[in-house]
Amino acid sequence: MTINWAALDAPYPTLAKNPLAGRDLLRLSDLTAEQLHALLSCALAQKRAWKSGDLTAPYAGKSVAIIMEKPSLRTRVSFELGAKRLGAQTTVMGDATSAFSRGESIKDTVMVLERYVDAIVLRTYAQSRLEEVAQHASVPVVNALSDDFHPCQGLADLLTIYEHKGDLSKQRIAYIGDGNNMAHTYLEAAALTGCDLTIAAPPGYQPRPDYLRQAQERAAMSGAKLKVVEEVGSALAGADVVITDTWASMGAEAEHDERARTFAAYQVDAAGIAEAAPGAIFLHCLPAHRGEEVSDEVMDAPYSKIYDEAENRLHVQKALLSLLLADPCLPETGERR
Ligand code: CP
Ligand code: NVA
Repeated sequence: MTINWAALDAPYPTLAKNPLAGRDLLRLSDLTAEQLHALLSCALAQKRAWKSGDLTAPYAGKSVAIIMEKPSLRTRVSFELGAKRLGAQTTVMGDATSAFSRGESIKDTVMVLERYVDAIVLRTYAQSRLEEVAQHASVPVVNALSDDFHPCQGLADLLTIYEHKGDLSKQRIAYIGDGNNMAHTYLEAAALTGCDLTIAAPPGYQPRPDYLRQAQERAAMSGAKLKVVEEVGSALAGADVVITDTWASMGAEAEHDERARTFAAYQVDAAGIAEAAPGAIFLHCLPAHRGEEVSDEVMDAPYSKIYDEAENRLHVQKALLSLLLADPCLPETGERR
């Protein structure tokens, strides 16, 4: 079935019932294209409703655990406030007080936690840890960033691209820099939506070949064109969306200086943006390291949509929680966990 990525605000004709109730989101490829479309449409509807003063909070009585084993500003605040705006209660645990910090087994921790909460949001290191939590949890588990993926950021970026550039399937995206969790997430986002993505990264720092292969298999269905190159210029040429991310992700801080040398030619600056298509926008998941992966000039330019992108974390995660916890914003659903 053809997905209309130019119309996230149109009612979704085949959505007979909420397709995400009770599910996990560990990476974007957990979603079908139809589910991704439904989720982004729901986010847009909720964003508009909220901005027009609809403060409905239908999830009173639900509760969400937010566990952060790495630092966070955007993810932590937007999940906590997003859940609260839905009426749900939240419990937030940082690293020192984290559910997993005392050596209790993942199974025991999760089996206890799910007696208290209706969803678990976890930021951690290994993707396998999230998979183990999800294996034991009967409540939805959401990846709030791992070493390998950051699906919630990917959702926010897609919504931001749609709002500024329209039809997601028609975009040409250039990602410049480290082949990290964000690069993997953009591979999966592009494979689902059918847009073109070129990742420019130095040898040794390119996306994991298995993730690239998986995305390419999916791209064969959507028509997405996925490329990984070394040279920045070929990625930037004609791009509608230019994206970068930190050169040293959380957990790789000790490699900062070595990486700064390796990535020196990968800074996104105004000269680079000039190579992109007219009307191109710039995105960065933040936190940014101004003067490293991106210049101040680009960060502060009118084409930089980084704060819209950060705001959209709130809207997509609110929609995600709504759907995982069974969503009244889809009137035909009528189901509750
Ligand atoms: N972009 C993002 O996930 O930001 P935080 O690390 O501040 O949550
Ligand atoms: N790649 C970065 C993203 C931060 C939101 C990291 O993992 O630190």
